[in-house]
Amino acid sequence: MSEFVQVNRKVFFAAADRNKDPILDQLRPYLDEAQLEVGSGSGQHVFHFASAYPKVVFQPTEYDTLLLASISAYSEELNQRHHRINTPLELDATKPEHWQRILEVGQQGKHESTQGCYDLVLVTNVFHISPWIVGQSIVRGAGQMLKSGGRLVLYGPFKKDGQFNTESNREFDQTLRGRDPSWGVRDMEEIDAVAKNEAHMSLARIVDMPSNNYMLFFEKQ
Ligand SMILES: C[S@@+](CC[C@H](N)C(=O)[O-])C[C@H]1O[C@@H](n2cnc3c(N)ncnc32)[C@H](O)[C@@H]1O
Repeated sequence: MSEFVQVNRKVFFAAADRNKDPILDQLRPYLDEAQLEVGSGSGQHVFHFASAYPKVVFQPTEYDTLLLASISAYSEELNQRHHRINTPLELDATKPEHWQRILEVGQQGKHESTQGCYDLVLVTNVFHISPWIVGQSIVRGAGQMLKSGGRLVLYGPFKKDGQFNTESNREFDQTLRGRDPSWGVRDMEEIDAVAKNEAHMSLARIVDMPSNNYMLFFEKQ
């Protein structure tokens, strides 16, 4: 993220502010009991979604531990008004022990011991700004975290059938790879192959979003 400001502990990303409402509109039918966010960034999204759905439990996570303080600052403001955002947890998606901790926290106070416990796993603007192994690990991890019938929801730029949807996204992909050769816009069919082969999930719905982005809804069997 290039455009950001910080006030006290709270980080503010301009992009997260622009896309929070279109994303929330698509999530509304699925905001059930327990939500897990991978790569919560500043915490703006979880703050926005929890503001709209005070009874839903949100579990933010973040890879960049410096951002955990920002997520906590947003969460504390809402939790003073009895909203339900859990303490943010560190998550490097490639580390099984981090997923295990998130599963244990989600299962606290519940009877099921081995089953997934989240209704939805949300991941916005992560797959293209991280190595492909991170995307693969997120799909596998989400397969373990979700209840049967739960959803993994991805937001961002993606290729469809190996093709870019716009010339600007082709250029964006080149820019990303120039910054880090392991980054890049991913193909939704390749993500779906991991979902089907390794996570008991499949791509059920594709929604066109503003700025040439997509929202991808994967459903767990
Ligand atoms: C552009 S930020 C998106 C933040 C937020 N989701 C948003 O939309 O504002 C990219 C995110 O990728 C995540 N990320 C990068 N590498 C990761 C990894 N190994 N495991 C989990 N998340 C990772 C970071 O958490 C970071 O917040």
